[in-house]
Amino acid sequence: MDRVIFTDEELYRQELRRVFAPSWLFLAHTDQFHKPGDFFTTYMGEDPVIVTLDRDRRIRAYLNSCRHRGARVCRADFGTTRNFTCTYHGWSYNLDGSLVSVPNKDGYPESFETGQWGLVEVPHVQTYHGLVFGTWDPDPVPLRESLGDMAWYMDAMLDHDDQGTVVVGGVHKWVLEGNWKLAAEQFATDWYHVNMSHASALMVLSPSGRKPKDEVVHRTGRQYVDPNGHGAGFPVHPKNRFDAQTVHEWTDYDALRERLGEARVEGPLTTGHATVFPNFSYLPVNGSIRVWHPKGPDRMEVWAWTIVDKSMPEEVREAQRLYNLRTFGPSGIFEQDDGENWSEVQAISHGFITGGVALNYQMGMGSEREDGRHPGRTSELYSDAAGRAFYARWRELMNTPAWHEEHHA
Ligand code: FES
Ligand SMILES: [Fe+2]
Repeated sequence: MDRVIFTDEELYRQELRRVFAPSWLFLAHTDQFHKPGDFFTTYMGEDPVIVTLDRDRRIRAYLNSCRHRGARVCRADFGTTRNFTCTYHGWSYNLDGSLVSVPNKDGYPESFETGQWGLVEVPHVQTYHGLVFGTWDPDPVPLRESLGDMAWYMDAMLDHDDQGTVVVGGVHKWVLEGNWKLAAEQFATDWYHVNMSHASALMVLSPSGRKPKDEVVHRTGRQYVDPNGHGAGFPVHPKNRFDAQTVHEWTDYDALRERLGEARVEGPLTTGHATVFPNFSYLPVNGSIRVWHPKGPDRMEVWAWTIVDKSMPEEVREAQRLYNLRTFGPSGIFEQDDGENWSEVQAISHGFITGGVALNYQMGMGSEREDGRHPGRTSELYSDAAGRAFYARWRELMNTPAWHEEHHA
């Protein structure tokens, strides 16, 4: 694979048009919205959006840009409001996106119709077990269908009981110098780096404080390879458990076995990594869910939430939150290793000769199969198979005119 896909400005623009504009993109967690007017501002690709609950308690999303001169109509990260009033000239929009107030309105001609100047709405917003996704595609494949068998793996984190999940501790945001695909790809496909990149972190966590135990280093497991570019890898072990001791002790593994089945409890329930194409990733072991927001070819912004089971008592939630912070928070002992790798790869990839030297994605070539235990097709734990599927999907979208180009075809 040619490194130009991480650095080229034109390819990046094409990604925004053909990968981000037509895909289902993660927006928020349903727990961020409880009453009408609760809102959260985020991005779809580089497009700013407001996600809010309207008066009918429906989650809706709008382009966060005033129809007058284009300023953002909401500049807060989150909050509660009755309407969105632009701070430039004061146009004001309702929770349903309609333009309801225009200062000095008598200066406008008869032909000015406020009904035509509402906020641009994201046409489809759908949720899956607490996760809110949106797409600009006017006629999309439904979210559930686009997740396919990936949903089975996601449920190992999202569906421990009927109460579902909630967010603890707000949203952490930080900037990394690196192309967004480096992170998305790694979370889809890369258990390989763990022993090397995270050697020091594993050492700190090992009871002896020295070499991590053999069963940590020589793990066996599977990697789910999705035809729509999603991916998930996880060790398989009969005594699979959550890392944080308080969480482990609270967890009723028998009840989970009953609800989710043995294959999920011994596999993707805890330790593992996953990406929902294109830029939503998660780690079940600590409830970290994150978006890799693209900010030009060389930079991404990581937005990370911690989710826990709603049924967890306060002290268990707190234990999971702290465990998340220590490992995969912005200064977490694992997170820093990963960010360092992506910046390292990015920093040199602009070299003229360097940029043309191909990278290797051959691991686990041809190993994908139905394994009889996990749905869909899986590969080995150590494999590039889901990475290849991620880029196959990316290439397919990059080569397909999106909905907004069709009238030119
Ligand atoms: S730009 Fe928003 S009111 Fe003028
Ligand atoms: Fe890592």
